[in-house]
Amino acid sequence: MMDRREFLAATAALAAGSDASAQLAIEGGAPVREKPLRADYWGPQYYDDKERAELMEVLETGRPFRWYGRGTQPPMKVATFEKEFAARMQTRYALAVTSGTAALQCALAALEVGPGDEVILPAWTWHSCFNTIVHAGALPVFAEIDESFNIDPNDIESKITPATKVIMAVHLQGTPADLDPILRIARKHKIRVLEDCAQAVGADYKGKPVGSHGDIGIYSLQLNKTITAGEGGAVVTNDPVLFERAARFHDLGGLRELHERVVGKPQLGWFFGTNFRMNEFSGGVLLAQLRKLDTIVSAVRANARRVYEGLRDLPGIRFRKQPDPAGELGAAVFIDLGTRERCDRFLQAMKAEGVPASRPSGSVILPTLPHVMKKVTVHPKWPSFTMGRGPTIEYGPQCCPRTLDILGRFAGVSMDPKFTERDCEDIVKAVRKVYPAVMRA
Ligand SMILES: Cc1ncc(COP(=O)(O)O)c(C=O)c1O
Repeated sequence: MMDRREFLAATAALAAGSDASAQLAIEGGAPVREKPLRADYWGPQYYDDKERAELMEVLETGRPFRWYGRGTQPPMKVATFEKEFAARMQTRYALAVTSGTAALQCALAALEVGPGDEVILPAWTWHSCFNTIVHAGALPVFAEIDESFNIDPNDIESKITPATKVIMAVHLQGTPADLDPILRIARKHKIRVLEDCAQAVGADYKGKPVGSHGDIGIYSLQLNKTITAGEGGAVVTNDPVLFERAARFHDLGGLRELHERVVGKPQLGWFFGTNFRMNEFSGGVLLAQLRKLDTIVSAVRANARRVYEGLRDLPGIRFRKQPDPAGELGAAVFIDLGTRERCDRFLQAMKAEGVPASRPSGSVILPTLPHVMKKVTVHPKWPSFTMGRGPTIEYGPQCCPRTLDILGRFAGVSMDPKFTERDCEDIVKAVRKVYPAVMRA
């Protein structure tokens, strides 16, 4: 006898053109797809004559360096990219750099983060976030994530000390972090907010691009991101001094004429910077890609929406928390399976249906990594772990029990802007077939 929940699941599935009572492929039934569905890298699927023309122009003019080159015209690819990127992200300034990691270093330098300072970051994020804080000589302090997989605003305040200088709000796997409460806490404690939008290029929060809400924002333009030249990054801000410090830091500590014109009246002098300058080949490709950003974002959003809509009525279904559903990038659709064991079964069954799912990906549970727990640095006197709370702070799984729980029980299907309607229907079909069976078991 079916109970009420199963009856509702079965009728909802039938209404959607699939059958929750159909035999699972993992148990010998026919799979939803013979050829497994696979999301591809987004940006390169959109490479065409536009990127080719940009690259050819750099080759033919022989001007691969952003500041000067052959002939009388100044190279303009990176400069134009910066101008258009700032306009797209609705910020006054944008700085192009060699990677998202370089962008983080520039942003932390702009915020004058250094030895003795603490920076709060989510326990689940990419290596670069932790590493760049350590490279700045500051101390990383972890906060838990919530069911959006982003930093939990409710876990930030207890992590603040008089040494806290910055909160890193990372927008992970296409979902904006809940910025309103984060910004409120930051203002209350006079702390700066750095938005890391590496995994959410093109997403919005409350109608404005991510990256434009905090004091400074960064993006990655590496292969796995929305638009790409293989590698690349950008920093945005509305603050002329933060921009000037980031620009100087990215180019040895001086300010080139073009950036001098951008800031108007320079307010800083030379200091010791590095070299994260973007070259004109990357600038050209990224310019062409940037002009396609809205096309890519609307396509992937539409596909994610199709999948959400196809699953919304499935009894008991709980999706990843979305602080702003309209602003989502739509990189993946995640479902709460309740327990780690059910999640494992869901992953196996979805794979057998030809619609592979995975646990949240593209980040690491940093406090649990051996080199993080042991605080390994290139020099034993590294200030991060020899000053302030550095010697006594303890990293490890005890820092993030909720993060471990959440990441263990959610699974999702990655989206692709080029998925067809049929692909999206297959995702819906597979979940409608597998989810009720897994939850019933
Ligand atoms: C959240 C986050 N921040 C920063 C980065 C660094 O970007 P890049 O790989 O371009 O250095 C990444 C890269 O994946 C990331 O996921």
